[in-house]
Amino acid sequence: MTHVSRLDLVRPDDWHLHLRDGAMLAAVLPFTSAVFGRAIVMPNLVPPARTAAEVAAYRARIVSAVPAGHVFEPLMTCYLTDGTDPADLRAGYAAGAFVAAKLYPAGATTNSDNGVTDMDGLSPVLAAMEEIGMPLLVHGEVTDPAVDIFDREAVFIERVLEPVRRRFPALKVVLEHVTTADGVAYVRDGAGDIAATLTVHHLIINRNALFAGGIRPHYYCLPVAKRERHRLALREAAVSGSPRFFLGTDSAPHLDAAKESACGCAGLFTAPNALECLAQVFEDEGALDRLEGFASLHGPAFYGLAPNPDRIVLVRDPEPQAAPAKVPTPDGTLTVFDPGIPVHWRIEAAPGPQMTP
Ligand code: NCD
Ligand code: ZN
Repeated sequence: MTHVSRLDLVRPDDWHLHLRDGAMLAAVLPFTSAVFGRAIVMPNLVPPARTAAEVAAYRARIVSAVPAGHVFEPLMTCYLTDGTDPADLRAGYAAGAFVAAKLYPAGATTNSDNGVTDMDGLSPVLAAMEEIGMPLLVHGEVTDPAVDIFDREAVFIERVLEPVRRRFPALKVVLEHVTTADGVAYVRDGAGDIAATLTVHHLIINRNALFAGGIRPHYYCLPVAKRERHRLALREAAVSGSPRFFLGTDSAPHLDAAKESACGCAGLFTAPNALECLAQVFEDEGALDRLEGFASLHGPAFYGLAPNPDRIVLVRDPEPQAAPAKVPTPDGTLTVFDPGIPVHWRIEAAPGPQMTP
């Protein structure tokens, strides 16, 4: 491919993002809203955003934290529990309070204690979602402690996801932050309306990063990074051009004090450099011409939305970027994902206020 030093893309979206709340929300949101037009916002607050009313209140807090000059639309999700009321879900979806619902198997990850324990009990909810065309966003890991942590995604597909999809064949499903070759194959080849989000960090690190010279809490997330062959399968999926794969950063900030602890929290904070790192991955794969599809087009198509109306420009510098600086919050610092590879891409200086859609 000829040498590309400038990329002009439809403004991307982030189809899986944790924005948190309060001071943390205020600290992290500008990194996303400066770059991404929209984001699917995860509902795993404490307590979680479970009902249309709770989600609408959270959405209002996000909207009021968007900095002046940024045009950003939070696409909200509702947190499924054993007690989710199908009528509330239908009403909230019809009213635009949320665009999708998130399934966390109880105990699978950060703030998932209120998640679903009984998949059979969820049937009326899934039937309603199938009927109204509301996507089910899945944290695809079993919680059975007898299953090895590196196998939990593959086992989830077999034990939980495939049976659900057989029972509700028209249900729209996103297998979130897929981390294995098994997950990629399932989504790529499966029947029905299925897609997967891929994070930037899972395209860059494998599980060795967690233990390079000592334990590295800033590379610990869930699903945990897997073997190299899985990383390679994820990269192949990302650059494949298949509309079933799109960007969901899963940027999931935790204060450094909570990460650097005897029981450190899962989650990587990637919002400040996600797009730059992603462009580098696509360059390294010789696939810069596929970046716009993955970051800006496949996601809206799956959700039945138009692509963003404006554009963003990435520039390639001869010198790689310096390692990212920590981000301050009133409660302590956040460590930004260090990709550990030379990243030459940066977003061209502020394009000024975006066009209003
Ligand atoms: C997420 C978080 O911190 O909320 N953590 C993570 O490791 N990705 C939860 C999640 O998406 O699993
Ligand atoms: Zn997440």
